[in-house]
Amino acid sequence: QGERSLDRDCTTLSRHVLQQLHSFSADAQDLSAIMGRIGLAAKLIARRLSRAGLMENVLGVTGDINVQGETVKKMDVYANEVFISVFKQSGLVCRLASEEMEQPYYIPENCPIGRYTLLYDPIDGSSNVDININVGSIFAIRQQEGEDDGTASDLLQSGRKQIAAGYVLYGPSTMLVYSMGTGVHAFTLDPSLGEFILSNENIRIPHHGPVYSVNEGNFWQWEESIRDYIRYVHRHEGYTARYSGALVGDIHRILFQGGVFLYPGTVKKPEGKLRLLYETAPLAFLIEQAGGRASAGTQDILDVVPDKLHARSPLIIGSKEDVTLVESFIQERD
Ligand code: AHG
Ligand code: MN
Ligand code: MN
Ligand code: MN
Repeated sequence: QGERSLDRDCTTLSRHVLQQLHSFSADAQDLSAIMGRIGLAAKLIARRLSRAGLMENVLGVTGDINVQGETVKKMDVYANEVFISVFKQSGLVCRLASEEMEQPYYIPENCPIGRYTLLYDPIDGSSNVDININVGSIFAIRQQEGEDDGTASDLLQSGRKQIAAGYVLYGPSTMLVYSMGTGVHAFTLDPSLGEFILSNENIRIPHHGPVYSVNEGNFWQWEESIRDYIRYVHRHEGYTARYSGALVGDIHRILFQGGVFLYPGTVKKPEGKLRLLYETAPLAFLIEQAGGRASAGTQDILDVVPDKLHARSPLIIGSKEDVTLVESFIQERD
């Protein structure tokens, strides 16, 4: 094990947040504690995933259909409950909204206005869970605004309202990547310590990269402009296709190697499949912080205002030059 400074090994998530905010204010401490708790949720989920094949009732489906109309995996439910349990006695977060819950979950403890809301996708890429391929969790933190009328309508605002966002990648190692608006930083879980330790600070996405990541099985459902872009990529040297079926893993590759991920709308579903509040907006926040771009096709993802909690948006995200090139095909057609 290469000699790493003790200081580096002690740069845990909670401490890094305080360093980034250059402050020990109550607010900074709250955000630090929230990130620490997200780390705990990630550890609980990683632990269960790592032993899934050896335990009863971890893999497979529950038999239910969620608000998205998707088959629910047992891991979806477990991970969803992990985030709720971790924040229940925290006094930090008043409301949780996730892909797996029709309505937000309210934590009854005294929740003054201005307390935080956690938006999350507990298991992203759940079609990979039963075949032991990487999955992720995606999260975003927003401030609660105004009286909550029980429908969390204050959440129906653009991604520019996000205070922090990030993801956990449950891969060969478990990594947590986050941003609070002061750059993008990655932590690797050291199982021997049970801590997420800083492994990459101020990650910058290359302006261009070789990877294009899209489900070409949908080729004939796309708008012609997207088909034209894929034909361009097929004809030009220097591109390589990578698609794992889990957004977090595909984005993580592009964050480090450059390139573009696309989940475009289709003629039948122009808004696409991915959900804005807990998939595309958090990732857009993060990738922009790394110097990349995230577009819904004709506008930045971060400017899209959802009309409902589970609103979907098309997604074109990654290296600045690659996202801009895809948009140029779309504009040509308009
Ligand atoms: P989730 O498992 O949270 O529902 O998300 C799955 C998403 C995303 O992770 C992935 O990029 C995409 O669905 C894959 O969709 P297709 O199977 O249609 O390509
Ligand atoms: Mn799902
Ligand atoms: Mn997802
Ligand atoms: Mn999910």
